[in-house]
Amino acid sequence: MAPPQSDQPDAAAGSGAISKVLIVIAMQTEALPLVNKFKLVDAPPHESTFPKGAPWIRYHGNYKGLHIDLVWPGKDPVLGVDSVGTVSAALVTYASIQMLKPDLIINAGTAGGFKAKGASIGDVFLASDAAFHDRRIPIPVFDMYGIGARKTLETPNMLKELNLKVGKLSTGDSLDMTPHDETAILNNDATVKDMEGAAVAYVADMFSTPAIFVKAVTDIVDGEKPTAEEFLQNLVAVTAALDQAVTEVVDFISGKCISDL
Ligand code: ADE
Repeated sequence: MAPPQSDQPDAAAGSGAISKVLIVIAMQTEALPLVNKFKLVDAPPHESTFPKGAPWIRYHGNYKGLHIDLVWPGKDPVLGVDSVGTVSAALVTYASIQMLKPDLIINAGTAGGFKAKGASIGDVFLASDAAFHDRRIPIPVFDMYGIGARKTLETPNMLKELNLKVGKLSTGDSLDMTPHDETAILNNDATVKDMEGAAVAYVADMFSTPAIFVKAVTDIVDGEKPTAEEFLQNLVAVTAALDQAVTEVVDFISGKCISDL
């Protein structure tokens, strides 16, 4: 009898080696060292992946038997700064999944960390869960939809092998933290706080694409220093730790199936 037909790629279904990895990164400073590390090249205009008008940028190439696409949402067309936050992250993730059909997504970036939960500057976390902290809808069930808590892909073997911390990730569209945010982040039991992860997780889940979240701590949110100042001060140094961790993650993934992770 013929095996049942499936429109899922083998690796996504858990059998067969992972071949296509999509790295989603919000900031150019975080992305470019990885572009160099993996020797990725700019996708030429005739290979254009994204609709005309979108500022999103894709680099691609082959590394250790994997095809890697690295996307970042580009610069805001008016203000010229990186398009950080959940809206751009969700859009570029959606378009990339549709066009590139990755077996696995890695959302990599910097994050704020809570020292009360064991985070220090330069730590790199693999998020076990992702949820939102700034979508407050105090109506039964809508409240849970707003928080949008979900588990990320479990990677027990990767955690055994690599020197990464594990913690829950909470996502919102602000770098700073209001008292409302703080309560919601504590309710999410989060150790790290970013501006994209839960949005990427939402889109990845929608299309049954396994996703992992690698987050490096640039600032201590429950510390003394103003967040923006500490973030900018540590961005370049912590990006080096992030890029090292992402390289180790990709090296670990090479030749493996989703179920081996
Ligand atoms: N990225 C780096 N630091 C952050 C913070 N404190 N909040 C949200 N995103 C961040």
